[in-house]
Amino acid sequence: MNTQAVRKAEERIVVLNAAAQTIKGIVVKMQNDTKKKKSKAQLILSSESNEWYTPPNFMSLVYQVMVVDLDPCSNAARQVVARKHYVGANNQDGLLLPWNGSIFMNPPYGGKTGIWCDKLIKEDPEESIVLIKAATDTGYFHKMAGYADCYLLRKGRIQFIPSEEQKEKWSVTDDLLIDQGKKPKTHGSTIANVVFYKGENADQFIKVFGQYGLVVDNR
Ligand SMILES: C[S@@+](CC[C@H](N)C(=O)[O-])C[C@H]1O[C@@H](n2cnc3c(N)ncnc32)[C@H](O)[C@@H]1O
Repeated sequence: MNTQAVRKAEERIVVLNAAAQTIKGIVVKMQNDTKKKKSKAQLILSSESNEWYTPPNFMSLVYQVMVVDLDPCSNAARQVVARKHYVGANNQDGLLLPWNGSIFMNPPYGGKTGIWCDKLIKEDPEESIVLIKAATDTGYFHKMAGYADCYLLRKGRIQFIPSEEQKEKWSVTDDLLIDQGKKPKTHGSTIANVVFYKGENADQFIKVFGQYGLVVDNR
């Protein structure tokens, strides 16, 4: 090969290397964009993201109806003000332990909601408020609708609170943490929710929660 041919071949290699780098950059950007574009609903519903918590403004409604004796599916941060918490990560499996008194349940996601609803119905505690996805096509929704004294089909979306780990993992920003009722700036949750109530304080539940959507009174 003469010198000119060698130079041309070298130039081609440089061009090809540059093109390869550009393509690599595009692929990495596409991967990052896809990750960022995961909707909050997808994140909340994926089994790997159970660490999304009930916001305090929602809990303040719960506390107007009952003093919570037990949060059966909790974590080290114990966000729900309750007399007792079962912390799954501390080997306190809420699905195996007994449930007594007034229960507030926002169960783990990722296809496990039905198991937690079955446990609640089996334990049949004195009083309960259950916050789950309003999946009206599921067996668990209909079981709960039959079990509860009344329930709220909530208008608008609840802005669940991600754990620090979730925030980091999914690049979630604080604009997610917008007060309930205000229009979300970005990342609005696409999950509709239902709140079930069973117990002696159904009238109080309807009074407090009724202003947030449609109440169905089963009594
Ligand atoms: C959707 S979060 C709700 C947390 C909190 N109860 C609230 O309302 O903010 C569900 C929680 O259940 C916990 N968990 C998962 N499996 C559990 C188990 N078997 N027993 C107790 N807690 C569990 C998770 O760590 C997670 O913090």
